[in-house]
Amino acid sequence: MIDPVELHATCLPFAEARTLPAAVYTSPEVLATEQSGLFGRTWLCAGREADIPAAGDFLTRDIAGDPVILVRGDDGRVRGFFNVCRHRGSRLIDDSAGKGLARIVCPYHAWTYRLDGTLARLPGGDAAAREQPGLVPVHTGTHDGFIFVNLDPAAAPLALQLEDLPDFSRFQLPDLRVGWRRTYEVQANWKLICENYSECYHCPGAHPQLARLSDLISRSSRPMEIGDCYNGGPMQLKDGIETMSLSGKRTVTPIPGLSADDHRYVYYYVIYPNLLLSPHPDYVLTHTAWPLAVDRTRVECELLFTREALERPGFDPADMANFWDITNRQDWALCERTQLGAASRGYRPGPYQPAEDCVHTFDRWYAERLAALL
Ligand code: FES
Ligand SMILES: [Fe+2]
Repeated sequence: MIDPVELHATCLPFAEARTLPAAVYTSPEVLATEQSGLFGRTWLCAGREADIPAAGDFLTRDIAGDPVILVRGDDGRVRGFFNVCRHRGSRLIDDSAGKGLARIVCPYHAWTYRLDGTLARLPGGDAAAREQPGLVPVHTGTHDGFIFVNLDPAAAPLALQLEDLPDFSRFQLPDLRVGWRRTYEVQANWKLICENYSECYHCPGAHPQLARLSDLISRSSRPMEIGDCYNGGPMQLKDGIETMSLSGKRTVTPIPGLSADDHRYVYYYVIYPNLLLSPHPDYVLTHTAWPLAVDRTRVECELLFTREALERPGFDPADMANFWDITNRQDWALCERTQLGAASRGYRPGPYQPAEDCVHTFDRWYAERLAALL
């Protein structure tokens, strides 16, 4: 399915390296390998703690092909379970999110589970329930207000995976709240979305609104940042520009305590495999990319704001949301064009350009992982 020589060519030093082989974007076998060996065995960002603030609040997710429930328990803890009944396997919860669940009741024969996953009752009576196992747990963890899950029963701690992630504490991520959210379905492989996010080589032609705001060559003054679990770096706002928005002006108060330097930069990080995190002076942009098929990806985009900004009368994220919605759609169109090319017999791995150092870093990370799974 994959030519190991082509995969190896991605891992060469930057000047000699070639982009990934077509099969990683087009082969259902590669996707199956990714789902079992990468998405099924890695800590993945599945939501925000603030999305389920109270006992009984829940989210459901499809992770690596498996249905998962994330629910806050009566003790305040967020737990994850497969969304699968222990009786005969019925899907338990259909809604993608909800509040105030007291118990999880199977729609089939009414086995009833507590929020900690233990079985509370069966139609046959409570005594019978005590002898039956509860829901199958999924490892969960939290970092900077994000909920991470790992389907691997033998998962190493989340902290180990995120060990070298930069310190984002100045952006107060745990206290930020979602002020705008949009879900997209992109007709392209998930890696094309991560790659496209990792470079602004395409920005002058593709993003007239964005190119007006940030300096496309500013990366040269600051080296990219690389760790085991991420890569990324800053881009400088142009003179007179305060943030990434249609107006280029801030319409919400900045995140308190940021340095003058932070007010001049926007940061773009890929946290492997599928979380894209972009702190701005006044809000934080996130994307998560979830493979649906080899050529189809669901992308969830959120803008996170301070509670002070969100609760201020007249709060309106439109200037920022419209900017990112336009930019997102421009990006998805590029990813979809590349998906079409990858599916052609005319596709050949190409050379990386100097502005694509982060793309190479992401691709090399991926190629090494895939090679280990083959
Ligand atoms: S399958 Fe859930 S109660 Fe029977
Ligand atoms: Fe872009």
